[in-house]
Amino acid sequence: MRIYNFNPGPAMLPPAVKQQIAEDLPNWRNTGVSVMEVSHRGAEFRQLVDETEDLLRQLLGLPANYRILFMPGGARQQYSMVPMNFARPDQQAVYFVQGHWGKDAIREAGKFCRARPLMPYVADRPYAQIPEHNFDSITPDTAYFHYTPNETLEGIEWHHYPDVPHDVPVVADMTSNMLSRPLDMTRFGAIYGSAQKNLGIAGITLGIVREGLLDRAPENVPLMLDYRTYANSQSLHNTPPTFPWYVANLVLNWLKREGGLEAMAARNQKKSALLYDFIDGSDFYHNPVRSDHRSRMNVPFWLADESLNERFLTESREAGLLGLKGHRFVGGMRASLYNAMPMEGVQALVDFMRDFEKRHG
Ligand SMILES: Cc1ncc(COP(=O)(O)O)c(C=O)c1O
Repeated sequence: MRIYNFNPGPAMLPPAVKQQIAEDLPNWRNTGVSVMEVSHRGAEFRQLVDETEDLLRQLLGLPANYRILFMPGGARQQYSMVPMNFARPDQQAVYFVQGHWGKDAIREAGKFCRARPLMPYVADRPYAQIPEHNFDSITPDTAYFHYTPNETLEGIEWHHYPDVPHDVPVVADMTSNMLSRPLDMTRFGAIYGSAQKNLGIAGITLGIVREGLLDRAPENVPLMLDYRTYANSQSLHNTPPTFPWYVANLVLNWLKREGGLEAMAARNQKKSALLYDFIDGSDFYHNPVRSDHRSRMNVPFWLADESLNERFLTESREAGLLGLKGHRFVGGMRASLYNAMPMEGVQALVDFMRDFEKRHG
């Protein structure tokens, strides 16, 4: 039986990447040992670091004035690093909050600067759209504007760039949708995302920062929380998470072989449309999110009869469809369709859902 893993993160890896890891494990690049056992300052690992940066620059078409940083600590550490590096304590930073992760980001930022929501977040249940808004209250002295282009729990995604005035830098938590389609980095001051969805495995976080922003950090930012420490050392100031870095390199090579971000965008669009179209055509399942704000990466859905939830999860697991339980804060089900999920996996899910509905509807 084919297994399809719909986990939200850590999420599935492309099978070709797992195969490569298995082959490399005993003897990586003829070093005689595994990649976990070589020096991060040795020639082989340095080569991997250069290659990984080149691949990212190529795939994203990254302008030269953006720096690529690999950091530990996950996306949540970025919730502290962004305000520590980019805002003075008395300065306002504006946050757009439409879901769980944005809420956590602004709460953390409030420890370091005057973090203000663009509009109040009033969710007694998950949002079903990007709330109506305008950017009139953003003043030229705003340190930055922060948003979460894909809210992973609620399944809400921005399909356009925010038009933030006064050249205020835009900072984005792209943990759950980076590398899922082409990106115009010139629209951003900085982006970040932890690796365990579209870039490999947990333990490493990608940051891309415009050079001019690096000089904003005050001198007393702790060394390992200062973006300059990473920018000035090719992210090799201390011993980095070498294995996750190696996996990211394999995933980027796979992305390139698969046709890059244009190809991913087309595939992700097709995959999510297959599932949403099925859900919309059924009275047994539903997804409340406004159609043009729906996430291509995370598709939450609910059964009309929630007493069938446990049965749905048990039977789907038995059918080889893993990780479909919705997040505990929002309930229901969720299928995460990151880059590595093939079309056949989504087709298998839709076939299962149709059959389950026939038997229980
Ligand atoms: C959009 C988003 N931001 C932040 C996080 C938290 O990431 P981490 O666990 O790496 O800190 C997640 C995790 O799912 C996420 O989806």
